[in-house]
Amino acid sequence: MTKDIFIVGGARPNFMKIAPLINEFKRQIIKFKLIHTGQHYDYNMSKIFFDNLGIDKPDYFLNVGSGSHAVQTAKIMVEFEKILIKESPKLIIVVGDVNSTIACALVTKKLFTELAHIEAGLRSFDVKMPEEINRRLTDQIADYLFVTEESGVINLKNEGIDSSRIFFVGNMMIDTLISNLEKARKTNYYKTLDLIRSSYGLVTIHRPSNVDNREDLEKIIEKLNFIQSKIKIVFPIHPRTRKSMIKFKLDNELNKNNIILTEPLGYLDFLNLMINSKLIITDSGGIQEEASYLKIPTLTLRENTERPITVEKGTNTLIGNDFNKLKMNLEKILLNSYKKGQSLEKWDGNTSQRIVAIIIKKVLKNF
Ligand code: UD1
Repeated sequence: MTKDIFIVGGARPNFMKIAPLINEFKRQIIKFKLIHTGQHYDYNMSKIFFDNLGIDKPDYFLNVGSGSHAVQTAKIMVEFEKILIKESPKLIIVVGDVNSTIACALVTKKLFTELAHIEAGLRSFDVKMPEEINRRLTDQIADYLFVTEESGVINLKNEGIDSSRIFFVGNMMIDTLISNLEKARKTNYYKTLDLIRSSYGLVTIHRPSNVDNREDLEKIIEKLNFIQSKIKIVFPIHPRTRKSMIKFKLDNELNKNNIILTEPLGYLDFLNLMINSKLIITDSGGIQEEASYLKIPTLTLRENTERPITVEKGTNTLIGNDFNKLKMNLEKILLNSYKKGQSLEKWDGNTSQRIVAIIIKKVLKNF
């Protein structure tokens, strides 16, 4: 019977969190298997990240695809359980807050297997976000909780989780960013879009609360139309957002004069656009962190964030639905008087090493 460690990934934001872990396991010659749930499946939502980040083909591909939350979560559980029963691994590592995370966490603990959660403890305190539900439940049952920022430690303790399960290790996504920065610089992707350095804004919008209903999406478009009247913007469109634009027939409401629309981009091209941009407008979780590390001004079109460090010490500002806040902050950014941001604790490129050291000490020594 094999006794591997399983690493689970399923959706776009997972892949940059597992890449450094895989590299560190390989460096230390620790056996592992990679499970891809197939929650994201389009080339430019999944395979391109494997190619860009040099991740080998997964050992298992569950091919679950899209569906309602119940359908997607249930399909992942059914398929993942089969593999767990067959292989009986010694530790399952899940990352982030997507449906794949909670689905595999539930299966793992019901089969009495040890569970580690990377990016534990983050809380938006907004249960209308599916990710918040996934985060809270996964953290309750995980044995090893690897936390990216101090607020995560406080949240977990407030939820009654014992300190012995909590490890403040830093940010895995920043490991990936640091190790790919040079490669990303060299793609010069921004030039292929005829952009000039520091003269454009980069937009990503895909949260259900912004795009799933017509009025919310109209408000987003209104904001983007305002921003593009001040600075050129580049907008790689997430499939969820594209579908909503078509469904609500809002495609023509977006003023196209000063906007470049693209398909979702690969990791290196997107990072190239980030590092050369003047500002970022987003509702993504991970991009708030990457932008703060890079010290790029970021306006987040959400009322809350599960990553408060990016607002307190980084370059992020929550704009929500406040048009005045948007105008004020945009003006500051364009006049170069916006906050500069500080370095963030343990976001130093060594998080995967810290995590693997803990796994060796706590898990592998027993085998
Ligand atoms: C998921 C995560 C979210 C993460 C986001 C990043 C959950 C609950 N949400 O949201 O935390 O920030 O991924 O992208 O897990 N689709 C495609 N091609 C794909 C993948 C999705 O066309 O490769 C379509 C699906 O058909 C669906 C929509 O995009 O209609 C949304 O996909 P889904 O996996 O439900 O959630 P995301 O919005 O991507």
